[in-house]
Amino acid sequence: MKECDMSISQKITEILNDLNYLENAYFTNLENGHFDKNDFIETQIQFYFAVTFFSRPMAALAAKIPLPKMRLEIVRNVWEEHGEGNFKNAHAHTFEELLKRLGNVSVEDIQKRALWPEVRLFNTALIGISVLDDYMTGIGVMGIIEHMFSSISHKIGTGIIKRGWLNEQTIIHYGVHEKLDVKHSQDFFDIVAGAYQTSAENKYYIDQGIWLGATLFHSMYQQLYEHRKRRIFRDITTPHSRAEGIPC
Ligand SMILES: [Fe+2]
Repeated sequence: MKECDMSISQKITEILNDLNYLENAYFTNLENGHFDKNDFIETQIQFYFAVTFFSRPMAALAAKIPLPKMRLEIVRNVWEEHGEGNFKNAHAHTFEELLKRLGNVSVEDIQKRALWPEVRLFNTALIGISVLDDYMTGIGVMGIIEHMFSSISHKIGTGIIKRGWLNEQTIIHYGVHEKLDVKHSQDFFDIVAGAYQTSAENKYYIDQGIWLGATLFHSMYQQLYEHRKRRIFRDITTPHSRAEGIPC
């Protein structure tokens, strides 16, 4: 098949096969029992800082999508991230509940942790792409992250259950995202599906986003696993950036 005949889903398959992201040490060691529970929780606390940040680049990207009709599902996604107006159901809040169930980690415990540069790198890359890059590249990045997070949620959710840390009834957050993020990913790619086929330039910008987003997400999990023994606390409870708030 010639490169120019490939659809978005074929491109996604090609990039993800090449990356082999589900064989990432983070997931394989969770599954095979070589990921200590305390280390896992520490890395999930760091991942929480990515969860709470994720709706912000998404909102910035929505603002760059030119037509209201095109951005509708992304605005809906941002609204969902905020619990559709019921803050108890906000994705950040369900993740706080997961940490509480996993290791009796409180919001205060979370805020005592210094933000690892690997997670800050991930967040800053997302906001940089969303604000400064072509919106089609931004869609490629966010769309592939949602796509990957569906499979990752399955891996982590079943891993936690397999290790006996939680059960089918007490696991939270990951079950929802395994299903929901298939739709979220599709919503992103639907916006650019037509543009992908009609211009080689559009296709290049979208492909760049898919490749970049996949690499970024895969690398963050690799880095979380590599630094899993790290324990860096701070003696203040201010936000990690003056441009952010702290949860209440
Ligand atoms: Fe999502």
